[in-house]
Amino acid sequence: RRHRIKMAKVNAGAALLSLCLLLACSAGGTQAAYVDVEGTVRTEVEKAIKSNPGIGAALVRLVFHDCWFQGCDGSVLLDKTTSGGNTEKKAINNIGLDGFNLIDTIKYKLGNSVSCADIVVFAARDAARYLSGGKITYSVPSGRKDGIVSSAAAADAILPQSTFEFQQLVDNFAKKNFTQEELVILSGAHS
Ligand code: HEM
Repeated sequence: RRHRIKMAKVNAGAALLSLCLLLACSAGGTQAAYVDVEGTVRTEVEKAIKSNPGIGAALVRLVFHDCWFQGCDGSVLLDKTTSGGNTEKKAINNIGLDGFNLIDTIKYKLGNSVSCADIVVFAARDAARYLSGGKITYSVPSGRKDGIVSSAAAADAILPQSTFEFQQLVDNFAKKNFTQEELVILSGAHS
C-alpha cells in the first residue's frame, strides 16, 4: 500500500513537472504568435471610415504631416516629450489634424508587434485604397522606429503654410526632392 502511495506521488510529481514545462514553453517559448499587422490596420481603418467618412481624409493628411517633418517617425502623435515644450500637435500648420484616436485604438490592439510610425503609414495607405474604390494601392515596407522628439516650432518651419504662393510651395517640395509635377499630383489629395 505504501508503495502504491509512493508511486502515485511520483506520477503526480511527473505530471506537475510536465505541466510546468508545457506552460513555460507556451509562455516564454521561442515561437512568437503570428500577428496580422497590416490586415488588422486595414480592417480597423475600413471600419472607422464606414462610421465616419471624414476619418479617411484625416489619415491621408496625417501621414503627410508626420513624414514631412523629421521623416515618418510617428512624432506627430506625441502629446509631450521629455524635453518639454509644445509638440507638433500644437504647430499652426498642423491645425485640424485628426485620426489620433484611431491610431491609438490600432496600437492598443497590436501592441509591440508594430510601431506607431508604421501604423500611420499603413493607415493612410489603406484609407487611400478604400476612398479610391481600390484604384490606389501600393505596398510599403515596415520597420519604422517611433521618434521621441517633437517640436511645434520646428515643424512649423518645415511644413508648407496655407498662405504659400505657388513658388513657395514648389521650393518647399524641392527641399524634399519632390518635383513641381509631384507637388501638383500630391496636392490632388485635397480633392
Ligand atoms: C502643398 C502644400 C499643402 C498645404 C499648404 C496644405 C494645407 C492644408 C490645409 C490648410 C488644410 C486644411 C486643414 C484644416 O483646417 O482642417 C489641408 C487639408 C488636407 N490636406 Fe493638405 N496641404 C498641402 C499638401 C498636402 C498633401 C501633399 C497631402 C497628402 C498627400 C495633403 C492632404 C490633405 C488632406 C487629405 C486634407 C483634408 C484633411 C481632413 O479633411 O481632415 N495636403 N491641407
